[in-house]
Amino acid sequence: MNLQEIFQNIIADDSLHARFLNTLSLMENTGARKISASEDKTKVSYLILKHASEEARHAFYLKKQIQKVDKIENFPTYENAYLVAPFASYTYLHSLDIHVCRYLKQTLKLAGNDLKYAAYLLVTYAIEVRADELYPIYQDALDEVGSKVNVKSIIVEEEGHLAEMIYQLKNFSEDWQNHAEKACEIEKNLFDNWTVALAEELV
Ligand SMILES: [Fe+2]
Ligand SMILES: [Fe+2]
Repeated sequence: MNLQEIFQNIIADDSLHARFLNTLSLMENTGARKISASEDKTKVSYLILKHASEEARHAFYLKKQIQKVDKIENFPTYENAYLVAPFASYTYLHSLDIHVCRYLKQTLKLAGNDLKYAAYLLVTYAIEVRADELYPIYQDALDEVGSKVNVKSIIVEEEGHLAEMIYQLKNFSEDWQNHAEKACEIEKNLFDNWTVALAEELV
């Protein structure tokens, strides 16, 4: 089942759709928390602040979208019962972070705050590339059936984030494209696992 079909199936069932929105909210919130956790005590730029706040907004916005298909009270937390593919959804970002850190330690011998910052750049870059692909496919599936749920404001901000990550990566390393490619390779594996786990919940 491809991503488009997975989304079509999810959207067709309101309560499953609500769980999916809660799951996307969890993943956005995990992203926001990761960005904040990677911040240096003092060297926090305008772009990093902007990014952390927008990811937190995405988490909140997706949670609020639940009311268009179900009751928000039915999805009070991010506990397993309120999610689709909980394990794959929880581990997606953490695993990406762990693998990218391992890669950076091995290839660039980074440690401490330098490692934290470089991991922030590469992990976030890979996620933004994915977000720029995933959200438009989801929005198309929503439009197809005239759903009241919409993620257009997220799409606009994610496009901005990708451009901002490229800008920061260029300042970080001349060789940024090779590192970014490696991060995307790692991410693809984890994303494929996630979509398999989503598809498994549909049958
Ligand atoms: Fe986001
Ligand atoms: Fe983003």
